[in-house]
Amino acid sequence: MSLTGKHVVLGVTGGIAAYKACDLCSRLRKAGAEVRVIMTKNACQFVAPLTFETLANYPVVCDTFARPETWEVEHIALAKWADLFAIAPATANIMAKLACGIADDMLSTTLLAARCPVLMAPAMNTGMWENPATQTNAASLRARGIRFVGPDDGHLACGDSGAGRMSEPADILAAAEKILSAKRDMAGLRVLVNAGPTRERIDPVRYISNFSSGKMGYAIAEAAAERGADVTLVSGPVNLAVPYGVKTAVSVSSTEELYQAMLEKFSQADIIVLSAAPADFTPVHVAEEKIKKQGNGMLTLVLRENPDIAAALGAQKMPGQILVGFAAETENTVENARAKLAKKNLDMIAANDVMMPGAGFDVDTNIVTFITKDGMEALPMMQKSQVAEALLDRALALRLR
Ligand code: PMT
Repeated sequence: MSLTGKHVVLGVTGGIAAYKACDLCSRLRKAGAEVRVIMTKNACQFVAPLTFETLANYPVVCDTFARPETWEVEHIALAKWADLFAIAPATANIMAKLACGIADDMLSTTLLAARCPVLMAPAMNTGMWENPATQTNAASLRARGIRFVGPDDGHLACGDSGAGRMSEPADILAAAEKILSAKRDMAGLRVLVNAGPTRERIDPVRYISNFSSGKMGYAIAEAAAERGADVTLVSGPVNLAVPYGVKTAVSVSSTEELYQAMLEKFSQADIIVLSAAPADFTPVHVAEEKIKKQGNGMLTLVLRENPDIAAALGAQKMPGQILVGFAAETENTVENARAKLAKKNLDMIAANDVMMPGAGFDVDTNIVTFITKDGMEALPMMQKSQVAEALLDRALALRLR
């Protein structure tokens, strides 16, 4: 059982998804965790405390002023006891309270006192979730290291359809297991990751780019930080928040800027992962004014090659450094990736056939084949977070050779 010996405080707030928290409670117990449940007053309107008491096999805490079972100050005792604090469902209200440090009932008070990892599974109407106030609170909580699972898209109890459904209990359990089993096997290592696309300016309003979202590289940076590494993330323009724990984040726009940033950071890194999709070509001339239509239905741009960052880093790699690249291929994936591994002097390359559904650009999953000079290993379709863990495992193993 993956959670044997682990202490989970499950906070249940007032939403219809509270009934699904019963299933979560049961799954946590089956996985071996000891569970204590705190319910808000509103949560008790949706599900009777007795249900959770039966599932957790322990009295439910609902009221700050109820006589404690023991003489310890209960909200502090539970906060200290917890290895993980999971809030499911998490309403907009509890997110706002924690974001502002409000402690006005047992759940919010215990939550504020907790020093363990906190996992939130939001559930609310789409309008509430998308409200700038909720989004600002979510961003501020994320920046402080609170983890989120969901919300998912789908049919909501209010009849609307959209973002706001609480994640399935199985997914919340998986997120809890991931947090509680986090390895710290990269402590003391410096990891440099690049991610996202680059933009090559054509004129003041246009650029050449590609479909990279940064999800693959950000997942690698996040996983390395969770495993204790000192992470530097150099990123092209993306729509993602810098993952919690990343020590240094550098924003760049063009391939030339990415090249300069990577050159600057390279010598201080032990493991370098090149998941960015730098534009290979850039216009020879950047027009100072917006280019007008030429009147002949055509526009010719003359492009030159950008520097190959991976090849430049490969050429100056020092003993002990592990350099991992990606190969985004549309044909002959393994052959082309092998050629890049050799040409760029990489220690490993993760080949992804970006034509395959569920792989490559701007999706949450990827299908990669790890190739080294000694062999190759094809992985099935996985979440990018899982690919990130697998890639880091292989990079660590290469260091020990
Ligand atoms: O960002 P996502 O939406 O999550 O998508 C992930 C991804 C598809 C971008 C990622 O999985 C990936 O494949 N990244 C590499 C993209 C790429 O540029 O592949 P490539 O085969 O053209 O280049 C091979 C390697 O050389 C890559 O490590 C690349 O970062 C590097 N390179 C490429 C060109 C260049 N001028 N300099 C480089 O360093």
